[in-house]
Amino acid sequence: MKINIITLFPEIFEALNYGVLGQAIDREDIQINILNLRDYHMNKHGQVDDKPYGGGEGMVLMAEPLEKSLKDIPDDLLGRVINLSPQGKLLSHKKAKELSSLTCITIIAGRYEGIDERFISQYIHEEISIGDFILSGGEFAALALIDSLSRFIPGVIGNVRSVEQDSLSQGLLKGPVFTRPENFNTELVPEILLSGDHQKIEEWRENQALIRTFERRPELLQNIKLTKKQKKLLEDLASKRIL
Ligand SMILES: C[S@@+](CC[C@H](N)C(=O)[O-])C[C@H]1O[C@@H](n2cnc3c(N)ncnc32)[C@H](O)[C@@H]1O
Repeated sequence: MKINIITLFPEIFEALNYGVLGQAIDREDIQINILNLRDYHMNKHGQVDDKPYGGGEGMVLMAEPLEKSLKDIPDDLLGRVINLSPQGKLLSHKKAKELSSLTCITIIAGRYEGIDERFISQYIHEEISIGDFILSGGEFAALALIDSLSRFIPGVIGNVRSVEQDSLSQGLLKGPVFTRPENFNTELVPEILLSGDHQKIEEWRENQALIRTFERRPELLQNIKLTKKQKKLLEDLASKRIL
């Protein structure tokens, strides 16, 4: 996958060079092409932003340097052009998976008050928000987007089962996990995990995932088809809650 990023702060993307993502970039499973918006300024002052028409707070990224930078990317490598914005559609597991199947995407990381609306209407295919809060720049949202979609690219995570078992992949949150020591400040690892009975451990994990989802994100349960056993467990949990 080829990912173009248009940004005023290319250095922030050095963070991509770590962990499994860094390894995927080294192997060229993912190719990152960063364009510094400053290189596409339109006047001798290197200006890429200006005051908003009609007055008001802050500065707005100008459409012309953005257009110029976009045109510097060969047409066949441009792919879907995404603007990161708190006004976009919320990023989800499903959306990250969908984007991972594309061969090229181009991400615009905004700053200040955002970018000229005419650039959005003429060039942007999709606007994505990473949550209902405001960041000072799209770079941090871009990092989250790239990290989340890269997990679905074959080969990025060595163990495919680990991705399949992550929270949200089957519609539920994952249950708790433990590692050594068995006793941490007198709190013990659940005995079942030490039993060596793989079937029972699997059942326990499935139940824990359901319990955790019920307790923390009950709305997720509406989107999945529950087995009879799961329905029964939920009824028990719900009645305990009422009592
Ligand atoms: C301070 S924000 C601009 C917010 C804009 N004035 C508004 O009210 O919609 C600057 C940049 O940060 C990025 N950004 C801020 N919050 C974001 C979010 N929740 N998701 C994605 N990008 C975000 C966008 O690229 C945005 O252009």
